[in-house]
Amino acid sequence: MAATLTTTGTVPATTTTQPKIGVMGVSKRFTVSDREVTALDAVDLAIEPGQFFVIVGPSGCGKTTLLRILAGLEDPTEGEVHLSGASDDRPDNSMIFQGDSIFPWMTVRDNASYGLTLRNRPASEIRDVVDHYLDKTGLTQFADAYPHQLSGGMRQRVSIARAFANDPDVLLMDEPFSALDEQNKTLLQDELLRIWEETRKTVVFITHSVDEAVSLGDRIMVMTARPGRVKAFVDVPFERPRSVLELRQRPEYGEIVFDIWQQLRDEVTASQQASKDAAVAARRRRWRR
Ligand SMILES: Nc1ncnc2c1ncn2[C@@H]1O[C@H](COP(=O)(O)OP(=O)(O)O)[C@@H](O)[C@H]1O
Ligand SMILES: [Mg+2]
Repeated sequence: MAATLTTTGTVPATTTTQPKIGVMGVSKRFTVSDREVTALDAVDLAIEPGQFFVIVGPSGCGKTTLLRILAGLEDPTEGEVHLSGASDDRPDNSMIFQGDSIFPWMTVRDNASYGLTLRNRPASEIRDVVDHYLDKTGLTQFADAYPHQLSGGMRQRVSIARAFANDPDVLLMDEPFSALDEQNKTLLQDELLRIWEETRKTVVFITHSVDEAVSLGDRIMVMTARPGRVKAFVDVPFERPRSVLELRQRPEYGEIVFDIWQQLRDEVTASQQASKDAAVAARRRRWRR
């Protein structure tokens, strides 16, 4: 069972249904002290409804920028983003960030209720929905605790409970587990899959970890080093429900991880070289002054 590698830049038609998210020719340039930085260059992609879509790429390649554009927090310099089937009675998206994104002054329950409270949902509905996700994330006993009383893993569980309770159209996650230790990371990946399998919401999940991408994703987009472009799409053939630990013992898992690593290796090297070149250029500019 080999991974399906699709060459750069094309948007392969996996199904004939209308994509949930369509990104067409998206570029993003930032101006930093009179110099232009191209973060994203002509990115095309299509995400099917209910797909667990993972974006993997070297640090600084524009992953967060792309996610912020999908969330509507940033406008592309060129190109367009389409979200289909959005409804008025639920938010378009919920975002889970890398670091702590829960409110330190609110209890676990209030944090998890936040999106629903903002939308003025009835108290009984909020209680039922939040109870369900606190149970799913193992936080029932900690409902009245404050974030500083929790471990890093538990705080990310609160973020997950809040995101799912909010019942968004699309879930956007930016390296949510990257600050956790290996055991907590694996546990949370498994828990995330179990909760997601109940709802099958469209997910866009960003990571720099190839293992995490293959463990979680239906489809992976591999990005080039900056400026971020599409290097390849990889379809992950593993069935659902999945167990992260079981998956990692399979030979096919190793093959796909290896395939993606090969794609990324050149990019990581290019990204390291670019940082070195930038440091040298900055030093030269200082000397000239
Ligand atoms: N608001 C901004 N202003 C200027 N440059 C930015 C801004 N946001 C991101 N960048 C630059 O764009 C590039 C991509 O950043 P980012 O999307 O955060 O990468 P990643 O998430 O893949 O590590 C980086 O060079 C970064 O410095
Ligand atoms: Mg980032």
